[in-house]
Amino acid sequence: MVQSTGPKKIKCSVFISGTGSNLKSLIQFSKKKNSPISIKLIISDNAKAKGLKFGKIFKIPNKVINYKNKSIAEKKIIYELKNKDIRIICLAGFMKILSKSFIKNFKGKILNIHPSLLPKYKGLNTHQRAISNNEKYSGCTVHFVNSRLDSGKIILQKEVKIGKFDTPKSLAKKILLQEHKLYPKAIKKLFNL
Ligand code: GAR
Repeated sequence: MVQSTGPKKIKCSVFISGTGSNLKSLIQFSKKKNSPISIKLIISDNAKAKGLKFGKIFKIPNKVINYKNKSIAEKKIIYELKNKDIRIICLAGFMKILSKSFIKNFKGKILNIHPSLLPKYKGLNTHQRAISNNEKYSGCTVHFVNSRLDSGKIILQKEVKIGKFDTPKSLAKKILLQEHKLYPKAIKKLFNL
């Protein structure tokens, strides 16, 4: 459980690598009065991430971190997080794997959203694999990050029906729409809201 400090919102950082549609939905959620989080920093490993535009639109600072050397990159990230007194991290389409020592630094404070019904389809190409296996349902999961990929404690999941004519692309789109609702809901659940 993440401890809330009364009416003050918890400072949050969102990590992205790409489009940032989950980032956008988290920012919109964070602006609501009953949201327990306030997003103070966006981290991206990719200078070309489209999602960085949401930082500009909503006036939230961002840091693009060069990941050529992972250990240096993580040191820089930790510096930025401590500098802004960040207490909770939301991974939202962040495609780098965090090291064990990084995770230890923020134990129980890192969340991730994954486009499958974990523990099924950890890793990449989730939609293609779910369709190839003739699954009737896929979905999305918000979970805590631990040192094993996509294996931390599950906070919330949402099922999405796979239609007869779904392609990886159409399924990704359907699931993404649910992700935008699930992530805020999972954060509220964490804070008993
Ligand atoms: C989302 O579907 C998210 O679940 C997935 O990347 C997409 C990012 O979209 N994350 C992973 O696959 C992590 N392993 P967005 O940039 O529009 O939020």
